[in-house]
Amino acid sequence: MTDRLSPTLDPFQLAEELSGKHLIGGNLVLSASGRTFDVTNPATGKVIGQAAYGEAADVDAAVAAAKAAQAEWAGLSARQRGKLVAECATLLTQHAEELGRLVALETGKALRTESRVEAGVLADAFVFYGGLGSELKGESVPHSPDMMTVTLREPIGVVGAIIPWNVPMMLMALKIAPALVAGNAVVVKTAEEAPFACLRTCQIMNQVLPPGVFNILSGYGPECGAPLVAHPDVGKITFTGSVETGRIIYQTAAHKLIPVTLELGGKSPMIVMGDADLDRAVAGAVAGMRFTRQGQSCTAASRMYVHEDVHDAFVERLKAKVDAMTIGDPLDEATDIGAIISPQQFERVQGYLRIGQETPGMKMLRCASMPAGTELADGLFVQPVICTDVPADSPLGREEIFGPVTCVFKFREFEDAMAAANDSEYGLAASIWTRDLSTAMQAGKRLEAGFVQVNQNIVVLPGLSYGGTKHSGIGREASLEAMLDHFTHKKTLIINMT
Ligand code: NAI
Ligand code: MG
Repeated sequence: MTDRLSPTLDPFQLAEELSGKHLIGGNLVLSASGRTFDVTNPATGKVIGQAAYGEAADVDAAVAAAKAAQAEWAGLSARQRGKLVAECATLLTQHAEELGRLVALETGKALRTESRVEAGVLADAFVFYGGLGSELKGESVPHSPDMMTVTLREPIGVVGAIIPWNVPMMLMALKIAPALVAGNAVVVKTAEEAPFACLRTCQIMNQVLPPGVFNILSGYGPECGAPLVAHPDVGKITFTGSVETGRIIYQTAAHKLIPVTLELGGKSPMIVMGDADLDRAVAGAVAGMRFTRQGQSCTAASRMYVHEDVHDAFVERLKAKVDAMTIGDPLDEATDIGAIISPQQFERVQGYLRIGQETPGMKMLRCASMPAGTELADGLFVQPVICTDVPADSPLGREEIFGPVTCVFKFREFEDAMAAANDSEYGLAASIWTRDLSTAMQAGKRLEAGFVQVNQNIVVLPGLSYGGTKHSGIGREASLEAMLDHFTHKKTLIINMT
């Protein structure tokens, strides 16, 4: 291998260097049209660079490059593909600080609490899947003594991945790592708000992967995402984002009769029983609500059901804990909470807060202090809000806000908490906090969600099967089954021995 890229710790410089480019067939290239669009720093509102404006012609070029590279890639042994993917992990670890700073700049997520963490775990997905090449095995089927019958796992071909802006590198890794190890080539479309950290990740990985195996485009959903989904040579779509966009993608995929994986929204309940360790539950509420990510998480614990005996103490301690957090410049090491990603999302959150203010009886506790200083005056900062006395039918308690706003409800009976928790169109994550084993186990079985935890609220990690029920999505990610079931076809091969 010739000269390897070296880390660039100045994210402003890196954003400029990566401006205006897709990565297709191993090369950084301009859009076919030459067009670009601005990418801004949510903490200041200032433009930090331009993203290439991807359209159908760019999709065609990227899919063609992927298609051309895929057969040879699939021709490598599974172990060899895994080895190359694991080698990417080593390089990404060397670039972790650089990637953390870049994703902090473009997303507004605080470096210390979120962005550096994301960059740190990014490599882990490639380590995990890199070791799973040998698991791409089939079965032997004892259907007849005269026949040798086996099943084979074969790659789908070209996989299209469409990703959001909240944890862009990590969510991308959970899609492309299993797809690549399974022998597919991939074309990723990044979120318009956050193209650079993913593009840099792709550039780093292209030092190891054969050209065309991993391509990346930036662009808007309808202009660049839709033609990728519709492209006749794309055999699978994996998507994380809104329910609304998930439905559009599923419709196109239905027309093409191709499989999809959809990771959509959530309104995840957290149930705190009267016997819970309250300090632990409060810490879990802060972590679970992802206040350090401005609440921009599909698993955010945005509905908290707290037993009436401990409700007031819980709210008081939660407020005190969030009050102690620092809202500020994402690149400042002192900052806990950064900025909301875009003016659209900012306005969406404000809309919910207005509804809350107009709801009779509802209380809204605003926590922590807004950042000072003129530098951040145009930043998209929102104080975390804890809502209490929320009517059961309030949109704040039922809809995904994707901002730092949580609703705390009071309950008396366990059955009422179960019923309220399951009364949702979503089913992504849930948690229960109790010292009682029987309560914990009952809740674990009965909560309608794909990812249920007892006395903790951790984020998804490689190896843990992750995905939603109901409107939260279709399919599972992050696990072995994600690679086998979602990125391969199963072929039955019957050999007549007579
Ligand atoms: P979105 O679902 O519109 O965007 C996600 C990705 O889909 C982006 O890359 C976007 O360009 C792409 N996209 C949009 N329209 C498309 C189309 N017609 N065809 C193909 N691709 C398309 O989400 P958005 O607008 O960023 O956020 C809206 C809401 O979605 C948020 O408030 C939140 O509730 C939810 N969301 C959920 C996420 C999750 O992690 N499950 C992540 C981001 C947003
Ligand atoms: Mg959208």
